[in-house]
Amino acid sequence: MILSAQNLSVAYKTDSGVVKAVNGVSFDVAKGESFVIVGRSGSGKSTVVSAIMGLTDMDGGKVLSGKIMYGGKNLLSMPFDERRILYGKKISVVFQDPQSYLNPVIKVGRQIEEAVVVHNRGISKKDLSSIVNETLKKVKLDDLQRIANSYPHQLSGGQKQRILIAMAIINSPQLLIADEPTTGLDAAAQKQILDLIEELKQKLGLTLIMITHNMKVAKKYSDKIAVMHNGEITESASVKEIFENPKSEYTKMLIEAQS
Ligand SMILES: Nc1ncnc2c1ncn2[C@@H]1O[C@H](COP(=O)(O)OP(=O)(O)OP(=O)(O)O)[C@@H](O)[C@H]1O
Ligand SMILES: [Mg+2]
Repeated sequence: MILSAQNLSVAYKTDSGVVKAVNGVSFDVAKGESFVIVGRSGSGKSTVVSAIMGLTDMDGGKVLSGKIMYGGKNLLSMPFDERRILYGKKISVVFQDPQSYLNPVIKVGRQIEEAVVVHNRGISKKDLSSIVNETLKKVKLDDLQRIANSYPHQLSGGQKQRILIAMAIINSPQLLIADEPTTGLDAAAQKQILDLIEELKQKLGLTLIMITHNMKVAKKYSDKIAVMHNGEITESASVKEIFENPKSEYTKMLIEAQS
């Protein structure tokens, strides 16, 4: 197992009361697999991602119970300094909305460089520029000079998502988490981004946790699927098992709704 969530519960305090967004969720992700969490909007998928990335407090939430084990340690009780080294280096994430995770007033080339420098203080200019160029090629961005010299608003949605993917893989992580990585893209761009993630996973030997609301995406890109509904995992099994022999009514309904 590379990552294991055990009995995770997360709540948000809102003006109209406490929202229990994730309720007793457990799952295991094996090294090298593509683990897909599928569920409708509001089912708690991003809340799980946020907990893995140690961002629950920042999002105004609170972990009520549970553990997220990685490399024999509970991420939820790890001291900040230890966690800081992990994120972006061993565990990386591509968030749902690229626009809000890129700084609008800094050129994207510098933002990618920064993702490297955070974990490699003292890297030479030459090494930095070659690793950035290599990574931009890996995510299949051409016209590298122009892209690197652009501000986020000068790029298309697909290009921005490729920049975020570049930033996520540039320090050679073990685990890549992609939260609805194709939100807001047209169908062709969605397929390109998903195929790119799949290809990078194979080439770089990554373990992938991908979040989607789309059963077809889950079917095509996963080894194992967890179905989330109202903050709970209603069913978790191999892709074959889920589609050929779904156990819960909810899973059956999702499959039928999207076939
Ligand atoms: N920062 C927040 N403050 C208050 N409530 C929140 C916050 N973030 C999420 N929620 C609530 O928690 C529940 C789960 O939200 P979450 O974003 O995890 O769902 P999701 O499955 O990722 O949905 P989507 O597919 O739309 O991205 C929802 O009811 C949502 O309204
Ligand atoms: Mg979400």
